[in-house]
Amino acid sequence: MKRKFPRIIAHRGGRKWGPENTLAVFSKCVDSAFDGIELDVHRAKTGELVVVHFDDLTKTTNGKGLVKDKSLARLKKLSAGAWFSQEFAQEKIPTLKEVLDLVAGRLVINVEVKNAPDAYPGIEDDLIELLDDYGHEQTVIVSSFDHAFLKRFSAKAPAYKTGLLINGLLLDLPAYAEEVGAAAWHPQFVNLRAREVKQAQRAGMEVNVWTLNEVSEWLSAVRMGVDGIVTDDPEGLRAFLDKLGSVQSERELLGKSKRRKGKG
Ligand code: G3P
Ligand code: CA
Repeated sequence: MKRKFPRIIAHRGGRKWGPENTLAVFSKCVDSAFDGIELDVHRAKTGELVVVHFDDLTKTTNGKGLVKDKSLARLKKLSAGAWFSQEFAQEKIPTLKEVLDLVAGRLVINVEVKNAPDAYPGIEDDLIELLDDYGHEQTVIVSSFDHAFLKRFSAKAPAYKTGLLINGLLLDLPAYAEEVGAAAWHPQFVNLRAREVKQAQRAGMEVNVWTLNEVSEWLSAVRMGVDGIVTDDPEGLRAFLDKLGSVQSERELLGKSKRRKGKG
């Protein structure tokens, strides 16, 4: 079937095959040459940007308390993988610098800055200072649900693409994106429509949808013509897209018979 296929972006490095937001899963993504990874950033008490989804350390580590209250040295003592399986017990919370070094520009990195409920004042400056050491303007997308942060970031670092994380449909997305300085829209799939995807793309925006883990959702996103799919199961999505590219019709993909009922 001839159609545009979306990029495969591994959500938190792919939550299905290892502990999220660790170097173990990011390495697998590099080895598998997916299009991109998505990760979440908080800031340690000592100022380093660290890659972990929750501010509460009890969720994915053997620590307690909040990321913002711990030094990097304290954070590095925790296991970020034992909760997933003993095989990954040695995994630590990575710094964003470690992930940038590991990926080395080979994949797109979607850096989601978590800036709520607690704000990290000036985190845009920390991020710019770090990113500027790498020159990966073409492979970094900075996203956030905090659009005031995105606006500050894009004003100071317009060379980087920024993505609006939104759950819902806006009155005038292109105008809003221009106000923020965002070039991409990262909508939640459950509240997305094809018409709005087309409108955004016609306005020059890239559309990366999250977080889709089922064949029916992947097919729906492909039909909508999105630019990227964020998934916990990048291997499954790749297998699905490979299959979609090899069949003549969606009916064939879904294993439906062309013969009508009752015709033997
Ligand atoms: O990038 C979109 C998605 O990651 C946002 O949700 O909660 O998984 O960070 P969450
Ligand atoms: Ca995220």
